[in-house]
Amino acid sequence: MIHKHELADLRENYGLHVLLEQDMDKDPFKQFQKWMEQAIREKIFEPNAMTLATVGAQGQPSTRIVLLKNFSSKGFVFFTNYESKKGLQMADNDRVALSFWWREQERQVRIEGIVSKVSAEESQTYFHLRPKGSQISASVSPQSKIVSRETLEKAFLEKAEAFENEEKIPYPTFWGGYIVRPSLFEFWQGRPNRLHDRLQYTKQGDLWEMVRLGP
Ligand SMILES: Cc1cc2nc3c(=O)[nH]c(=O)nc-3n(C[C@H](O)[C@H](O)[C@H](O)COP(=O)(O)O)c2cc1C
Repeated sequence: MIHKHELADLRENYGLHVLLEQDMDKDPFKQFQKWMEQAIREKIFEPNAMTLATVGAQGQPSTRIVLLKNFSSKGFVFFTNYESKKGLQMADNDRVALSFWWREQERQVRIEGIVSKVSAEESQTYFHLRPKGSQISASVSPQSKIVSRETLEKAFLEKAEAFENEEKIPYPTFWGGYIVRPSLFEFWQGRPNRLHDRLQYTKQGDLWEMVRLGP
């Protein structure tokens, strides 16, 4: 049981790193790369796990975690089911947000931008790079639809048997990648006494402008 005040009394003080304007890369993609490289080097658990926020037709936001599978100055790529809740929401509204929390480094990155699908070729190529079991699950799972465990297991076994002697499962066209093209980045570093560092980049034409925000 959680006791009265137990959550209110949980309090960590942060003080591992400092974030100064002069240390930041002018290019937020490069700054992100630097932080991601550090997160990987320091063996943070699933550093590429990010919260994806989408907004439905009625204006209701929805969040869930997905895995960042690629990024470049073009954007941030993840893969999912195009007919899932998030897929339907992104078809209605292409404005999304991403956030990363790297607990061990007391860091958060927030991104806002516009999402679109990657090419079918890119999706298919990545689909076939995944382990066979993951390919099967993606192709039989009616993601975000009501289903029984029994139906899922049966569909998995049937597909596994049907393609027992094949290395690859046929690519399901309802599954694939999205790319988020950022218009805003925020790099957050935990500091003592909750006086955290927050540096935000927004795109002004072709250039990125950086400002400090109050914590
Ligand atoms: C660590 C972690 C990683 C995940 N990665 C993905 C992913 O890359 N793609 C995906 O579709 N779902 C992923 N999921 C599952 C999603 O969080 C979510 O349950 C699923 O995509 C359905 O979301 P929706 O109903 O909002 O569309 C992941 C969950 C966790 C906890």
